[in-house]
Amino acid sequence: MDLSYFSNKITAALAQQRYGEAPETLYEPIRYIMALGGKRIRPLLTLLGAHLFTDDLDPIIKPALGTEVFHNFTLLHDDIMDQAPLRRGQPTVHEKWNSTVAILSGDVMLVRAYELFLDVQPELLAPVLRRFSQTAAEVCEGQQWDMNFETEGQVTIEQYLDMIRLKTAVLLGFCLELGALLAGASTEAADHLRQFGTDIGLAFQLRDDLLDVYGDAATFGKRVGGDIVSDKKTFLLLTAQAQANAQQSALLAQHIGQPVTDAEAKVRAVRAVYDELNVRTQTETLINQYFQDALQHLDRVNVPAERKEPLRGVALQLLERES
Ligand code: IPE
Ligand code: IPE
Ligand code: MG
Ligand code: MG
Ligand code: MG
Repeated sequence: MDLSYFSNKITAALAQQRYGEAPETLYEPIRYIMALGGKRIRPLLTLLGAHLFTDDLDPIIKPALGTEVFHNFTLLHDDIMDQAPLRRGQPTVHEKWNSTVAILSGDVMLVRAYELFLDVQPELLAPVLRRFSQTAAEVCEGQQWDMNFETEGQVTIEQYLDMIRLKTAVLLGFCLELGALLAGASTEAADHLRQFGTDIGLAFQLRDDLLDVYGDAATFGKRVGGDIVSDKKTFLLLTAQAQANAQQSALLAQHIGQPVTDAEAKVRAVRAVYDELNVRTQTETLINQYFQDALQHLDRVNVPAERKEPLRGVALQLLERES
């Protein structure tokens, strides 16, 4: 089955989706962010997870949209927290309107996401909402660790990995688990899919952190270098700090945790240390390891191999993405 079959379903359903009308300053930012597009990867994972077990995707569409609306809510708040000017190549909601607008539009998006999850078979309602609520709380936990780490001197790679597991990976895992549960899969299969999605999610966030340093701004759609400017404790920075010689350590220390006078100069200096230490290749190696871990879980889902092909293909695309 061609991937466009699944993404067309998502695009069509999103075009039908209504969030509310008045006041316009509450709902227009929602239409704006949702219309900016993005990869729509989360609902795609839900549909692909379900399609392993069923051909009837109609009952899966609304909850799948719920994952995308939730994700976009997190972006509105994340962009305030990260002081990000650009999203999907356009001004962020808090830049185009202001932060109070971005906060409240985000809040109502979370409510709309819950409403989209209400449209599941009654016997699945409680399990789905329970798993979604747990996932959403974990995303908040990850987001707060991420903020805390900006001003913490000593962050370990292990702490970083746990932080990205929470802020990003558990949602991808949930999207797959959701598809499986709604399609009547066994809890064992749903669990392997969740773990597959979580491993893909770890690789996905590592790739995001890599693109934040090495991406092309036009394709990436976000400000390149933003993580360096705000002292994000990414795998790239932590690896560089751990492997730096005396001179490189001194250079990093000149910039990290210091007031920023020239953001461009800071990005250039830190990136130069990354280059010297081959941090890019080291990050790619770890991404590939998580991809291999992920595949082991997919292998253990007991459905015909050809059913898994679209999922494997999407996972690979995500880890090689430029946007
Ligand atoms: C951005 O998510 C936030 C991260 C978890 C890295 P995506 O890269 O899925 O963003 P869109 O939806 O495609 O714009
Ligand atoms: C985002 O991490 C995770 C969530 C939005 C929950 P980032 O802060 O790296 O995401 P981008 O790079 O702004 O999309
Ligand atoms: Mg951000
Ligand atoms: Mg962030
Ligand atoms: Mg990022």
